[in-house]
Amino acid sequence: MSGPTSIESVLSESRVFPVFPNLERDARIAGMAAYEELCQKAEQDYPGYWADLARDRLVWTKPFTQVLDDSKPPFYKWFHDGELNVSANCLDKHLGTPTEHKTALIFEADGGEVTKVTFRELYEQVCQFANGLKALGYKTGERALIYMPMSVQAIVAMQACARLGITHSVVFGGFSAKSLHERAVDVGATLVITADEQRRGGRAIPLKNAVDEALSAGDCQAVRHVIVYKRTGGPVAWHEGRDLWWEEVVKGQSADCPAVSVNAEHPLFVLYTSGSTGKPKGVQHSSAGYLLGAILSVQWTFDAKDSDVFWCTADIGWVTGHTFITYGPLAAGLTQVVFEGVPTYPDAGRFWNMIERHGVTVFYTAPTAIRSLTKAAEADEAIHPKQYNLDTLRIIGSVGEPINPEAWMWYFKNVGRERCPIVDTWWQTETGGHVITPLPGATPLKPGSCGLPFPGMDVAIVDEVGEEAERGNGGFLVIRKPWPNMIRTIWGDPDRFVKSYFPPELKGYYLAGDGAQRDTDGYFWVMGRIDDVLNVSGHRLGTMEVESALVAHPLVAEAAVVGKPDPTTGEAIVAFVVLNGDLPAGAEADKIAAELRNWVGKEIGPIAKPREIRFGENLPKTRSGKIMRRLLRFVANNEPITQDVSTLENPAILDQLSEAH
Ligand code: WTA
Repeated sequence: MSGPTSIESVLSESRVFPVFPNLERDARIAGMAAYEELCQKAEQDYPGYWADLARDRLVWTKPFTQVLDDSKPPFYKWFHDGELNVSANCLDKHLGTPTEHKTALIFEADGGEVTKVTFRELYEQVCQFANGLKALGYKTGERALIYMPMSVQAIVAMQACARLGITHSVVFGGFSAKSLHERAVDVGATLVITADEQRRGGRAIPLKNAVDEALSAGDCQAVRHVIVYKRTGGPVAWHEGRDLWWEEVVKGQSADCPAVSVNAEHPLFVLYTSGSTGKPKGVQHSSAGYLLGAILSVQWTFDAKDSDVFWCTADIGWVTGHTFITYGPLAAGLTQVVFEGVPTYPDAGRFWNMIERHGVTVFYTAPTAIRSLTKAAEADEAIHPKQYNLDTLRIIGSVGEPINPEAWMWYFKNVGRERCPIVDTWWQTETGGHVITPLPGATPLKPGSCGLPFPGMDVAIVDEVGEEAERGNGGFLVIRKPWPNMIRTIWGDPDRFVKSYFPPELKGYYLAGDGAQRDTDGYFWVMGRIDDVLNVSGHRLGTMEVESALVAHPLVAEAAVVGKPDPTTGEAIVAFVVLNGDLPAGAEADKIAAELRNWVGKEIGPIAKPREIRFGENLPKTRSGKIMRRLLRFVANNEPITQDVSTLENPAILDQLSEAH
């Protein structure tokens, strides 16, 4: 197991913070008894529990009569004879209610410009864009790739797709043209929605150019149009007949567009994420079940109130941005802040400054951001959170990787001022919404633990044969019963779906890929991935993906990639590389390492660049030729190898790699 939270550090953690009485008083789930009542209800009548919530929280165009279809496990269906539209559930539902004229989005751009949009205005923008797509001939069932900067338009694009039943696949703006190309082909996109450029920390980064490059390969002929939102006015090449400006698409379009009623199981989106083998997997989500999970996660975990100003700092390129920006807060009728850029520009006080200026009440970010802002605040008093008025905050959250107790305490003291609970939410792209999390009005907090199961979720720690592990013992984190917002399949690869998540020895349980343990109070302590997936700044990357990128370089013969704990990014990538020539040394080695880092940046995206590259004449392998990554992890951490290495083909290589820096 890897990850920044070592078992020793969490086991020594014994602090418990009780629920704040003022939060419990008027919470949606007020007190432990209320939480337990929900859990019991789910246990006694599992389909009934979810059916009641689905009837109460979603607006159906055709009510469902069937709840869970488990006739073909693990291909579960929920509410599958019902119909609805997700965008109508986020926007139309509020028309004619007091929410209609409430601010839906407070968007702050990289340069600081603020744009506010009400629910009514957002509805109209979504309708106009959807009408534009219709006029271009786009229909329910097609797939659109969205490669956009954080913007009102990005949310409009996703919502407009949902409105027409077009399945979207958002690609994070930090991914390369090559990654974009892979996803466009895999998902069979017929439409690409992008921008000329995006801005990050005052710099303009081209997006449209990457789309042009991605589509230049012969296998992207299915893409009929590329719609370009003008963000910066930077130069772009133009492909007549294929490329259209956003403005042209919406011009003259009506501000009303009937939402297409789709089946509950209609794929709302496909989002690519890394696995332990092969290329990224297209995680396919449903419409109704997904949206139900999104609303409940917003309402219960953040104890959402009508007066809240919600801010999730994720990018829409990740699942957190889907559930906690595009869908959950809109469906829950909340005002939310959306930002473009980075937390360190114009200075590392940006988050605190924005919380103060926009009166944010619920703040949801990642441990990596907290750790880097801690470092910045300690180096420069002027941007320390204590310099800002953060009185509006009620609840603060964490997601993406284990939060170490030290970072937890800093966040709790300096941002939450010891009066806001931290909801450390454990979930995944595949789960669609929260799976394990404290609830602000019910769960006492333990720094470093993500708390208890989300009401209704059947989560457990099991051993290799699916038997529940004793409290205090580590094991595999599994979800035993299907849940409404679970992954439906891997796009175009149902066999891989079954193989990746439902190993036969685990009794049909969903295997999350994380190692964890439960303490005697039932609290979960997640240790990190147990497979070859790395978590760098909360971003999932497969070691295989980085290795394939490295070996695609003409100089590289072989490569092995491992993660090493990093105080800021959680994990950092260390690559061991064998070149097709002599072992490089000194300046030559530095030059090749720099070239390889840039190469990986181009192949996958800058987030995948190895922190460190070490060259060797070969790699530690068993006699059957298997690379021993486990041993390389010790080398990467500069730790002595205590294990028996006599079964290695060439044990001496470990010394060579240990010395190579
Ligand atoms: C990790 C992000 C510990 C975990 C929503 C999981 C966490 C992977 C937490 C999913 C947390 C996420 N504590 N680990 N609170 N949240 N993880 O798909 O390893 O990008 O399997 O989804 O992130 O990453 P993904």
